Amino acid sequence: MTHAVASKQDKFTFGLWTVGWRAQDPFGDATRAPVDPVESVHRLAELGAYGVTFHDDDLVPFGAGAGERDRIVARFKVALDETGMVVPMATTNLFTHPMFKEGALTANDRGVRRFALRKVMRNLDLAAELGATTYVFWGGREGSEVDVAKDVRTALDRYREGLDLLASYVVDNGYDIRFAVEPKPNEPRGDILLPTVGHALAFISSLDHADMVGVNPEVGHEQMSNLNFVHGIAQALWHGKLFHIDLNGQHGPKFDQDLVFGHGDLVSAFGLVDLLENGGATGAPAYDGPRHFDYKPHRTEDLDGVWRSAAANMRTYLMLRERARAFRADPEVQEALEACGAVDLASPTLADGESWKELRSDTSSFEEYDVEAAAARGYGVARLDQLMVEHLLGER
Ligand code: GCO
Ligand code: MN
Ligand code: MN
Repeated sequence: MTHAVASKQDKFTFGLWTVGWRAQDPFGDATRAPVDPVESVHRLAELGAYGVTFHDDDLVPFGAGAGERDRIVARFKVALDETGMVVPMATTNLFTHPMFKEGALTANDRGVRRFALRKVMRNLDLAAELGATTYVFWGGREGSEVDVAKDVRTALDRYREGLDLLASYVVDNGYDIRFAVEPKPNEPRGDILLPTVGHALAFISSLDHADMVGVNPEVGHEQMSNLNFVHGIAQALWHGKLFHIDLNGQHGPKFDQDLVFGHGDLVSAFGLVDLLENGGATGAPAYDGPRHFDYKPHRTEDLDGVWRSAAANMRTYLMLRERARAFRADPEVQEALEACGAVDLASPTLADGESWKELRSDTSSFEEYDVEAAAARGYGVARLDQLMVEHLLGER
């Protein structure tokens, strides 16, 4: 079994809001004291993380003046320098302050929308200064509880207007930043716009700067909709749009649990790590960006439990990576993959130079094709499935 310890090459990153979550929920007050972001940088660095990410308000309290902001940022930069931690991604809090209760970039109130844009621009400057190359848009308040209270088509016009404007801001300032839209079906709004990876991908294709906008899918958010996260990630990769990823755990369709990575659907987590690290059937890593954990330490935990849970995210990822490698290297697995046709899928359906005309006159493909034999074929997926579980459990 693995004794892997996280190191910077693994590119593990954490939101400051994850370990810093004070565990307030709709029914109860915070159970933990605030954690100083500087402390988080040091503790996460000691545990082997590569970097941290943040919302503007995680670092600089909402409404802070220029002087206070400069002092906080300077102190944060010292912590980054001392630890060698990087900030590959940043984002904007457009959901906590009551002013955003009806939306931010898609608020019915035009003044709120203009304020939201200025808030993003301000933090984009800081993101660029800290070297972030990805900027996440999670529209937690962009949505409604009552369908007739917000016209979705008009709201999407405003969403597009906002992202187009912010993309021009990045281009005009010469920032090396791409945007990543993070889907979520609901919570805090009853229904959130761009609820799944698929909705987000379709929306992105309508943007002026579509090339600089991708997705930041989160495990639990797709699973809240009972969708297959590995499929969502594979399609995002297929479109060249997996710009960032939020790793965590979730037990199926219910409130957003933000559990430690792997502490939900473990078989799906195995499939995800196999895809990211081994590219599934292709054999080449499919993603080389940060492995970003967006989780919440249980409300039951004190700070010791917080740091243990942070370490658990990384260790679980590394164990799954090791298990996925062993799975791919196992000759019996390779044979089972061959037998189930997974390898065959890579052959294009038409031969080189063939068009519909040759296919149409190929009697072996239809008139003489043995449909009974095709119907009778067993694919051996049951064997493959069990081989995967045995590798996952360390039995092989
Ligand atoms: C959630 C979301 C948020 C966003 C983050 C970035 O769990 O609902 O993941 O955590 O990722 O706030 O804006
Ligand atoms: Mn979440
Ligand atoms: Mn997230």
